[in-house]
Amino acid sequence: MNADLFKKVDDYISDLLAPEDAVLTETIESLDREDIPQISVTANQGKLLQVLLMLGSARTVLELGTLGGYSTIWMARALPEDGKVISLEIDENHAKVARQNIEKAGLTHKVEVRVGKALDLLPKMAANGEGPFDMIFIDADKPPYAEYFKLALTLSRPGTLIICDNVIREGKVLDANHPDERVQGVRRFNQLLAETPSVTATILQTVGAKDYDGMAIAVVNQTA
Ligand SMILES: C[S@@+](CC[C@H](N)C(=O)[O-])C[C@H]1O[C@@H](n2cnc3c(N)ncnc32)[C@H](O)[C@@H]1O
Repeated sequence: MNADLFKKVDDYISDLLAPEDAVLTETIESLDREDIPQISVTANQGKLLQVLLMLGSARTVLELGTLGGYSTIWMARALPEDGKVISLEIDENHAKVARQNIEKAGLTHKVEVRVGKALDLLPKMAANGEGPFDMIFIDADKPPYAEYFKLALTLSRPGTLIICDNVIREGKVLDANHPDERVQGVRRFNQLLAETPSVTATILQTVGAKDYDGMAIAVVNQTA
């Protein structure tokens, strides 16, 4: 794998089509300052999320896994002024840093970061009648990805876009006996995706500034 070339081409694409402004650069810098891992989506992937949101004229987004708010900012910027991102995050400090970055981006009115375990928060959201969301971005811990997808379907409508990041894991998904629970989690999710007739889905392999991975893209069928 020519990781160096993939990184250079990713930089080339991002410089051309997804340049970061000061807020996005500072969001990435805030992770180092706060000892938070550098596991945000890339700039180019943030732009892909924007393109997909605009394609569907999305107004409402549910995100699982906020980290420092980098993807949240990309997505909130693609929504109309009265649009809303609800982002779920288990770690209090990540949520605090994300809220600061979202405020610096002038997006506080469009974003709500909720602290808690996604597996606890999602059923409550459905029970409270929240949703359906126009887009759901699953980017939290990997072992429960299949459960997250099932819960996401309860917060969806025909036409809802569901995107799940990190579902190829450097190709480790090919190994049915892989010992890493994250690999097994995304393998269960990928299988479930294939066996869910109410969605039309595929997986894009992703290479570039981050490790070789993949993003699942699904749309809930109109007849679902
Ligand atoms: C890959 S990072 C999210 C990156 C972010 N979407 C971005 O691109 O900027 C995953 C995040 O999910 C959070 N997380 C892990 N387990 C979680 C859970 N059970 N419920 C909610 N959030 C969780 C982690 O604390 C971390 O901040």
